[in-house]
Amino acid sequence: MRIRFAIVSLALVTCGISAPAQAAPAQAASSFASVVPVPVSAAPTSGVTYQITASTSVYSDVPTTGNLLAQQLRRATGYPVPIASTPPADGISLRLTGAPGGEEAYQLDVTASAITVSANQPAGLFYGVQTLRQLLPPAADSPTVQPGPWPVPGGRIVDQPRYAYRGAMLDVARHFFPVAAVERYLDQISLYKINVLHLHLSDDQGWRIVIDSWPRLATYGGSTAVGGDPGGSYTKAQYQEIVAYAAARNVTIIPEIDMPGHTNAALASYADLNCDGVAPPLYTGTDVGFSSLCVSKELTYTFVDQVLGELAAMTPGPYLHLGGDEASSTSATDYRTFMNRAQDLAHGKTVIGWHDIVNATPLPATIAQYWGTSTRNTAVANAGRKVIMSPASRTYLDMKYNRKTPLGQTWAGIIEVRDAYNWNPATFLSGLPASQVMGVEAPLWTETIRTSADIEYMAFPRLPAIAELGWSPQSTHDWTAFTSRLAAQGPRWHVMGVNYYHSTQISWPAGS
Ligand code: ACM
Repeated sequence: MRIRFAIVSLALVTCGISAPAQAAPAQAASSFASVVPVPVSAAPTSGVTYQITASTSVYSDVPTTGNLLAQQLRRATGYPVPIASTPPADGISLRLTGAPGGEEAYQLDVTASAITVSANQPAGLFYGVQTLRQLLPPAADSPTVQPGPWPVPGGRIVDQPRYAYRGAMLDVARHFFPVAAVERYLDQISLYKINVLHLHLSDDQGWRIVIDSWPRLATYGGSTAVGGDPGGSYTKAQYQEIVAYAAARNVTIIPEIDMPGHTNAALASYADLNCDGVAPPLYTGTDVGFSSLCVSKELTYTFVDQVLGELAAMTPGPYLHLGGDEASSTSATDYRTFMNRAQDLAHGKTVIGWHDIVNATPLPATIAQYWGTSTRNTAVANAGRKVIMSPASRTYLDMKYNRKTPLGQTWAGIIEVRDAYNWNPATFLSGLPASQVMGVEAPLWTETIRTSADIEYMAFPRLPAIAELGWSPQSTHDWTAFTSRLAAQGPRWHVMGVNYYHSTQISWPAGS
């Protein structure tokens, strides 16, 4: 996740086509062709439009999802948008009455008199609403009342995801991001049907979660950040607030405690965790690979057990991420010993590790997260374990877009939008059976990232590209069509105040 050697440029040199195409007025209608990720099937009904008006109400079989939609519509339209107690004849209904497809499938029907989202499970209703949001004019995402009108194009969309795991990762260790910043990112990623937020909660530069049995982790280990920037940590209540906020948006939080390397903040907090009993100083630089938990000490396993126990107790999701990457200060034998024992201390959760974990003995259910830059890694391909695809040369949102990008790094490549989009998670890693691929994740490491504006600049528009790889069938993959869908997001990000990168590969509408 840090400074490495080769700079591999994937970027195509683009000739800067910066003059944007014809302006889309802020109140322009959206269309079935502008939804990201592209739906499995979308059939517009020409000439039919539903108008959201002062008499539109919302009914939902899942109150949280109905409330989120109604709140958004109230904010932007100024209409009352009441919650109906039965499905309205003229209005929006979110119904658990079934949809063709699996657990996350939905069907969206828009007629002149009503909008209906139907689904098998609450997740499907949430996704149907995210599609509906993208069919509304961009101004519907405004935080303040806008003049309207509010047309929704008529037709039917039937949709479900390609992969069950569609993730984003935020490194809150190199720089700390308060709850509001995490929630803001959750709002943004869930619009693109991302369903996992992996939080990298500990690293050499900071420990970001209160652990009652080891209080100095947060109070001391969390006190700083890269460059000596202010530190911070989440209280248990704050962490649970993030978990609940994510759950309302159908996002599972996966907490990561990185080990046995990337542990300087813990080693600095407790001298006894060090083999020599001496605590190192806090670290605010950006090197990697210099720290290791003490594999031969029993206290190390008490520590891991108690930390993971407290974390598991406040994490309703099924996974704990144990890191396991870049343990260059741990011998290969010690690494195996440590990761094998640590996997048994996950308190009933399924373990995820960075793909280095295949150098230990991954449990049958352990999942490897592939972060390499190469399309070849036989140890991962042959491990017989499920894999999350995060190839750094495609999905690492902290890589620069081009040499002039003011933020980010280049060790895994220069990643323009097209590079982030043009690959196939099922075939990227040579020899890995497609059936082993659980999905995709776009990590954002934050050595150079300090604010929400920085997060947004690096994530948008690449995060939606990865989201489409995770959701849409491979048969729909088409760069040219994607560029026009993506361009349609620009005015929406503009009204949402998302500080996105105006890639010259995309013809953004004027004024966005
Ligand atoms: C990583 O980037 N070291 C997972």
